[in-house]
Amino acid sequence: MPTDSWSSYEDFKTARPLATTYYGLVRGAFEAGVRRICNGKRVGKAVDLGCGNGDFARGLRAVAENVVGFDQSHGLIKEALSHPDQDGVAFIQGNVLDEAAMAVLRSGDFDLVTAAWLHNYMHSEKDQHQLLREILRMLGAGGCIVFLIPGDAYTSVRTQRFAAELHWRQAWLKETPEYTRGVFSFEGSPWDEMTVWQPLWLAQLYRRHFSVEFLDVKSLWLDQGGLDGTVLEPPYDVMIGHRR
Ligand SMILES: C[S@@+](CC[C@H](N)C(=O)[O-])C[C@H]1O[C@@H](n2cnc3c(N)ncnc32)[C@H](O)[C@@H]1O
Repeated sequence: MPTDSWSSYEDFKTARPLATTYYGLVRGAFEAGVRRICNGKRVGKAVDLGCGNGDFARGLRAVAENVVGFDQSHGLIKEALSHPDQDGVAFIQGNVLDEAAMAVLRSGDFDLVTAAWLHNYMHSEKDQHQLLREILRMLGAGGCIVFLIPGDAYTSVRTQRFAAELHWRQAWLKETPEYTRGVFSFEGSPWDEMTVWQPLWLAQLYRRHFSVEFLDVKSLWLDQGGLDGTVLEPPYDVMIGHRR
């Protein structure tokens, strides 16, 4: 699948009122994670891995002096770079699993590493370990993480039905104790692979190095008004942590 298949993602997020509401909740949860981990303090440097068109990365300027967005998609990095507001942000194209490409994110240079919907692109334990290694390498002492990841409810039949209302199709093909693997397509995009790791599996992996906790996303949905009457278990989690 071409790496630029996410080029219509922003349009997809706003194509229907329900999608706009849902992605508003997603964004709200991500930002709540960032606020919680920063606890009123500004940090020097943040990086958003798998930044897409740079939307969340740009939002990190609320807590960070300098922000880098990093994504493998040439098209999305180009889009990020064409945004009129480039103040304090830089965007770099590269694959998080490519050590040579990641070397531009210098060791110990970052105070905060964020990633939204990226861990589901790691399709093996080896890749998850490689991503973790890179995150540890680039984070300074006391650095922190905020990850938005698919939750256990992501693969439920109820979520599948909800997703279909947004023109997002998904099919689950394999389940192991660690993950559920399947394929998805939105608005007719080519089928792409997705690996939904058990949030607690990921938490155990990161707990060796971080004081991991999860946000109460259900309460955030209630606070934010939820999905306009659609009853759904939030299909994602926000995992945050300080480096030990
Ligand atoms: C669902 S999109 C999320 C984009 C953005 N984080 C957001 O929430 O709007 C997933 C992004 O991860 C990027 N991605 C997937 N695998 C990657 C990898 N190995 N290295 C860098 N970026 C990757 C894709 O190009 C895509 O932009």
